[in-house]
Amino acid sequence: SCTMAGSDWTCDVSTMREWESPDYEPSLPVSEKSNPLTRDIDRASPNHIVRMLQACDSQMFQEEEGTTYQRLLSDNVVITMMEVAERVELILKDPQDSLVVLSGCGTSGRLAFLIASTFNRALRQLKQSSVYSYTIAGGDRALLSSQEAPEDDPILGMLSLKKVCEGKKRVLFIGISCGLSAPFVAGQLDLCLQHPEVYTPVLIGFNPAHQARDEPIPGCTFTFHNVVERMQELSKSQMAFLINPSVGPEAISGSSRMKGGSATKILLEVIMSVAHAAAFSKTPITSKGILQHLKASEKTLDITYSQTEGISGLVEAAGKSLRCGRRVCYLGWGSPAVLGLIDASECNPTFGAAFEDIRGFVNGGYRELNNSEGPLNSLGPEFCIAHEDFVHQVLPSLNDQDTVLLIYTHSDDVSEVMKMARRVREKTSNLHAVYHHVDGDTATALQEDINKLCLSTLKVSWPSSASASSLHMQWELSTKLVLNAVSTGAHVLKGKIYQNYMIDLQVTNSKLYRRATRLLQKLSGRPEAQCEETLLKALYRVDKLTPDITSSDMTAHILTARNTTKVVPLALVCLLTGCSLEEAKSHLEQQPIVREAVEAFLT
Ligand code: F6P
Repeated sequence: SCTMAGSDWTCDVSTMREWESPDYEPSLPVSEKSNPLTRDIDRASPNHIVRMLQACDSQMFQEEEGTTYQRLLSDNVVITMMEVAERVELILKDPQDSLVVLSGCGTSGRLAFLIASTFNRALRQLKQSSVYSYTIAGGDRALLSSQEAPEDDPILGMLSLKKVCEGKKRVLFIGISCGLSAPFVAGQLDLCLQHPEVYTPVLIGFNPAHQARDEPIPGCTFTFHNVVERMQELSKSQMAFLINPSVGPEAISGSSRMKGGSATKILLEVIMSVAHAAAFSKTPITSKGILQHLKASEKTLDITYSQTEGISGLVEAAGKSLRCGRRVCYLGWGSPAVLGLIDASECNPTFGAAFEDIRGFVNGGYRELNNSEGPLNSLGPEFCIAHEDFVHQVLPSLNDQDTVLLIYTHSDDVSEVMKMARRVREKTSNLHAVYHHVDGDTATALQEDINKLCLSTLKVSWPSSASASSLHMQWELSTKLVLNAVSTGAHVLKGKIYQNYMIDLQVTNSKLYRRATRLLQKLSGRPEAQCEETLLKALYRVDKLTPDITSSDMTAHILTARNTTKVVPLALVCLLTGCSLEEAKSHLEQQPIVREAVEAFLT
């Protein structure tokens, strides 16, 4: 089991590996299982929450044991990474009419964008032409806000891939779906399989192949599972590649933005880094080199989590803000700031949060983001991401109950950070900083002044031996871990999690609809049909389903779900008590902490 002694939290090996047992939640793929390590995260202190997240993250690097699951460091995974890196190298050496496309939905698509941008920038610095491109379900607006319905659309996936590849003769397509489940990505992989003369497909995900989603996709002859089977066959002749290590269940069940996102970033950055080194610095691609890079990522986790106290302080501050209905703002500089945008954008679908609850801002706004559709400000306030937007939209109404987090590194213009810190400090003393710097770098007077303005500063030191590019990737991963902890921990403290389930999730695509039904079954003990029926009643806000509703398909339900809130909590209260929707609603209004409302009925 896991024990907390003072501030030390340790888990024995059997608890760390409990999820690997064939008897553990056997009907669920790894990415949807609940993690035994976080069963009680809903009642944990900020410090304990961070320890639990650390233990969960460390599962990413556990060695393979037996034959149940291949892991990040398994031979097969490393060999496939080498093979994919060799394909990237070929394109880098002869980029004419060629492209590497990264694609995914939600966080997977956002990371596809981030990685494509990072390595195109590296190419520009070497005066080479860009070879990376990205697609994301829902287009660029999905970089900053949740757009779940397009994730269900394989045709949209296929068309958007065709569009970015127009005129190309050779395309390495890298589809990311942590759960091996997104129809958008399945459609893209299917296109690749139909045109092997142009496309070589690579699939990144974190379930074993047999756990790929096998649910029919409306209007399609294939399921994700079928696509994976075809890829497995072609992988024997290296015409397709599957990189699907297991990294263990997420700390919050199904929240693939966390470990799934981190592992995606780690895998792809290692592949691209070794490919670039092979193409431009004559460093051959070897399994040893890949393992070294993977181990360096593990070190990034260690360095980050050596700051547990500081991270816990941030979780506590952010949790307090959310509990009293106030907000958390990430104000960042450089590429770590983009991780702030990404983290903030995920809180709406994951926790049913409003966009104002946690927001990210980046110095330079869309100039820094450099997304392919350009500035999106005209789409509304949630797409305003520059520091100026923060100053105009948010700063005037800030007070001490709001938490502001500055995110910067030693390579940023510290005088600008100082200016912003001063402005924020006029409105709130609840100002904190995450600052990345390299070992041996002494703080300047200006940095000291910034520290004085902040209630806390998480000072993360990195080995000076790392190259500039790997340093940036480490800062990004570290920032991702810290912010994932802050936003997850704050929502846990707000009472949005029951045990380790996101109880107030939005039911805005087929995966989330199924997850919600399953959660209702688990917590109410009622049959699936009754749970789905009650879910629909809560979604349409009716006590009796009309023929119109029952004859509609899931797409219609999902569209309706975009405009409704608290669907799952309402359905659960109805299931547990047999009360009407109105009664359930008034109960939840009296007890807005969803966990406590639910608990009152469950006990
Ligand atoms: O459906 C929403 C979502 O769960 C996002 O939160 C997540 O980032 C995305 O789907 C991607 O899931 P996957 O990588 O498994 O396709």
